[in-house]
Amino acid sequence: MDQIGHMPASDTASAQSPAHTPRGDGRDKTAWRSGAALAALGVAAGALALAARPGIRGAGRMPPDFAPAEKTLAWASPAVLGTSPLRRFYAGTNIEHAVTVEDLRAMAHRRLPGFVLEYLEAGGEDEAALARNIAALAEWRFLHRSLVDVSHRDASTVLFGRKTTIPVIVAPTGLNELFWPHSDLRLAEAAAEIGIPFAQSTMSNDGMDRVARVPGLRYWWQLYVFGPPGVRETLIERARNAGCEALIVTVDAQIYGNREWHKRTTAGPKSLSWSSKFDALMHPRWFARGILTHGMPRFENVIEFVPKDRRGFFDSAHWIRSQMDRKLSWDTIARIRERWPRKLVIKGLLNVEDIARAAEIGADAVAISNHGGRQLDWAVAPLDLLPAARQAVGDRIAIFVDGGFRRGTDVIKALALGADAVLAGRAVLYGVAAAGKDGAKRALDILREEILRDLGLLGVRSIAELNPRLLVYSDHAKRGPRSLA
Ligand SMILES: Cc1cc2nc3c(=O)[nH]c(=O)nc-3n(C[C@H](O)[C@H](O)[C@H](O)COP(=O)(O)O)c2cc1C
Repeated sequence: MDQIGHMPASDTASAQSPAHTPRGDGRDKTAWRSGAALAALGVAAGALALAARPGIRGAGRMPPDFAPAEKTLAWASPAVLGTSPLRRFYAGTNIEHAVTVEDLRAMAHRRLPGFVLEYLEAGGEDEAALARNIAALAEWRFLHRSLVDVSHRDASTVLFGRKTTIPVIVAPTGLNELFWPHSDLRLAEAAAEIGIPFAQSTMSNDGMDRVARVPGLRYWWQLYVFGPPGVRETLIERARNAGCEALIVTVDAQIYGNREWHKRTTAGPKSLSWSSKFDALMHPRWFARGILTHGMPRFENVIEFVPKDRRGFFDSAHWIRSQMDRKLSWDTIARIRERWPRKLVIKGLLNVEDIARAAEIGADAVAISNHGGRQLDWAVAPLDLLPAARQAVGDRIAIFVDGGFRRGTDVIKALALGADAVLAGRAVLYGVAAAGKDGAKRALDILREEILRDLGLLGVRSIAELNPRLLVYSDHAKRGPRSLA
């Protein structure tokens, strides 16, 4: 699950019963305003705290994560692995000048305070799974076709019987309000404008009804199973009433991943460290537009299930995490299948046997995922598993894949290896964090432009023409032409 805070004290904490209260975030808002006054009096103390803060610059996390804030983006593309000349990404604020998703990432890095940035970027433990997502993409090289008429190209595809303009789905991500006010709505609007589905997380901050009503949106809801069965049943019922097309049940986060870099920015389960608070205040573009104006975010769609005295932002995240159903099993999925009449997607599978079982129990799709490298470290990249997964289920169900997709070529590789679509997580979050809806839309526009261009360069006119013979594992490429025959 993607929330802020530390591991719950006990794995066996029992579920508490749901209760209703009106909105209660005024206290958080006031706290932040008085924090601002405190900061005005204590700039010097803030500077000292910043200098001393652990885990950000001092402890030496390597670029690219903090290089952008210092405007020295002198790192090479991960796919090129250091062999290209050193370059800088775009350093301004005009979204039209962002020509790659990495530009948007750099913009987001400059705008966001350290604790939000760590929440966005961090992977589990040594971040080996996070790194593998990028490296796995870099292992595949293209064998383009030549002398093909590519004057007309089409990047659209059909998902669950309906056309999407590109084979991309906006992935469910929690706490989006930290990046930009009403980010869930802004992401949904961008997805609707481009013509692709948007999946809203259980841990989102905008109300389900408002998001589902975004004009033209293909609305999907992501379910975390927590608390007593009544919680999931209520959420499923609401998703159904909201006109949700597909329910994504995420099954890889019943135990929260160990995101150490992010943990370093908090001072326990209920609040940020002082240095993180000062750092937040020193990011006025983020602070003034967000927390100062709107108060602390809250989990609009599930806050009613949280006890009244645990509804502060950090505390409620911690509480919900402690209520995750650690007994979640195939039986639960079967019960969800009985209740949910529309498309059902199981997200977070990373084993071929489980993927085959998902097809057997009547899921409509799986999302092969390591949760963006945020859960079990040293997990394989979903892309590594993709060809075997496709072989296991044939055409019985759709396969979505995610983890590290930032380029049109990345998306094309996954489609050629058997995926029906790619879930885009951070790629669109960089956009929304850089410039709200315009930024999210820019990220998706960049992906669309790249996919269309790259299809042409590959000598392919449509998504349907993509196949594994257009790719070679780079080991073979290194071994020379005989292994390519
Ligand atoms: C900030 C952040 C929050 C996330 N929150 C959720 C969530 O609430 N539910 C979920 O199923 N997955 C969540 N994920 C995982 C994404 O759905 C997706 O699997 C992952 O981001 C894909 O990797 P990528 O970010 O490299 O594209 C989150 C990922 C990020 C980066």
